[in-house]
Amino acid sequence: MRIALLSSEVVPFAKTGGLADVAGALPKALSKHGVDCRIVLPLYSQIDRSVLSDEIIEDVPVQWRGQVRPTRIFQSDAAGAPAYLIEAPDFFSANSIYGHANDHERFAFFSRAALALVKHLDWQPDVVHGNDWPCGFAMAELRARRRYDEFFKNVKTLFSIHNLAYQGAFNARDLWWLGFGESPEKDAFMLEGNASALKAGLLAADALSTVSRRYSQEIQGSEQGAGLDWILRARRDRLAGITNGVDYELWNPETDPYIAANFSTADLSGKRECKLDLLRRFGLPQEPERPIIAIISRLVAQKGYDLIKQSAGAIIETGAFFIALGAGAKEYEDFLQRWHESATNRVGIYKGYAGEPLAHQIEAGADMFLMPSYYEPCGLNQMYSMRYATVPIVRATGGLDDTVTDFDPEEGTGTGFRFREYHAGPMLDKIREALYFYNHPDAWRKIQLNGMAMDNSWEAAAQNYIKLYEEIIAL
Ligand code: ADP
Ligand code: GLC
Repeated sequence: MRIALLSSEVVPFAKTGGLADVAGALPKALSKHGVDCRIVLPLYSQIDRSVLSDEIIEDVPVQWRGQVRPTRIFQSDAAGAPAYLIEAPDFFSANSIYGHANDHERFAFFSRAALALVKHLDWQPDVVHGNDWPCGFAMAELRARRRYDEFFKNVKTLFSIHNLAYQGAFNARDLWWLGFGESPEKDAFMLEGNASALKAGLLAADALSTVSRRYSQEIQGSEQGAGLDWILRARRDRLAGITNGVDYELWNPETDPYIAANFSTADLSGKRECKLDLLRRFGLPQEPERPIIAIISRLVAQKGYDLIKQSAGAIIETGAFFIALGAGAKEYEDFLQRWHESATNRVGIYKGYAGEPLAHQIEAGADMFLMPSYYEPCGLNQMYSMRYATVPIVRATGGLDDTVTDFDPEEGTGTGFRFREYHAGPMLDKIREALYFYNHPDAWRKIQLNGMAMDNSWEAAAQNYIKLYEEIIAL
């Protein structure tokens, strides 16, 4: 089976969030099952060139704005599966992955170059697997190409939704020169007078998937449907929900090279060292008995920061430390800064994207991990937390609902604490409940061990993807 996996971010090359973790881990897991899965991503200027191999593919002919643009493609095995990185300095040398006025142009070029590449290599994928709106262009183009290009006649498409709220909107006038000016492509893109790359992907792909079962249901309703729920309802027989896995080669407290001391279910003592190390890193007092509540996330409304803002005082009153790592909206960065200044001995913050080591150190050193998300397609940090004996406190939405279970003190079952209503009160109640059990070490140990025993490896997810690819190929 041949799968071309397209993604705008991939670990270890470029990352802003969980999509990169998934696009890095899934191909590796598929390869272990004999799938010939190859990754395609843009060659951003911030990518460390030392991970690239010397073999360069020159002069891939990409049709762009009425001309052929010869494009260079680099290769790398650093993700554990072959990766192709598309060079286009005029598009990919900006110092951030997203957020440019011409993002639609950048990723339309990426999509077109990815298809040109597989044809140039004469490597015919069974399925082109696109992820999120930047790959919506490839889904639309492939459907069009099947009408006139023999090479793509039998190539199928899967479009995975990691976040329905990012819709890749742009001025519909640009559809003409991007090559999508005529029906049915134009219709696929049109959304409320603008063009949307996400909508084009949702309509043009042969099949759709999302990253948890719960989210696949939620996006069929108006509350989480982001205006596109009607498409997901109409195509529900082609919509799968496959929960993401964890790459335990990278996220494993027994072997993690970034953390102060390794630990395991058999011996948790290293976690205390990790906690002291974490307190040191954030300039907080060495008080290991005091619990640490942590959060690592993009600073956006999705992640529930409004609830944290409303509860800042009450959280401090519980007696816990709070440690936050995040990059994003100025409103939330300013809030974190003010909160830190008002309680320097209790609130530790890092504003910005810190890369992998600090994220691992927080997972290892914290006692509790807070994810009060308004919505969460899957969420990875709750799964990382459980493996690191850090107890998740989550809002029961999307993948958080699928992967965390409530602690039941009578049965001794459950891996965390969940609240349902998106309000500060229920969140604070769960924080207090977690802190109560933190002070009952036997119960706490039980929750930690339950979480560590969870198997969220990519194994199950990879098998589900293989089944899904087989179904798509048979369409
Ligand atoms: P999302 O994809 O919505 O951002 P996920 O929970 O799926 O949420 O994945 C987030 C990933 O990004 C995790 O690997 C997390 O550790 C990482 N991450 C988020 N913010 C930062 C940051 N500021 N610095 C370092 N890593 C971060
Ligand atoms: C998105 C979602 C997150 C998910 C990640 C990987 O960024 O917000 O919930 O875990 O993609 O699928």
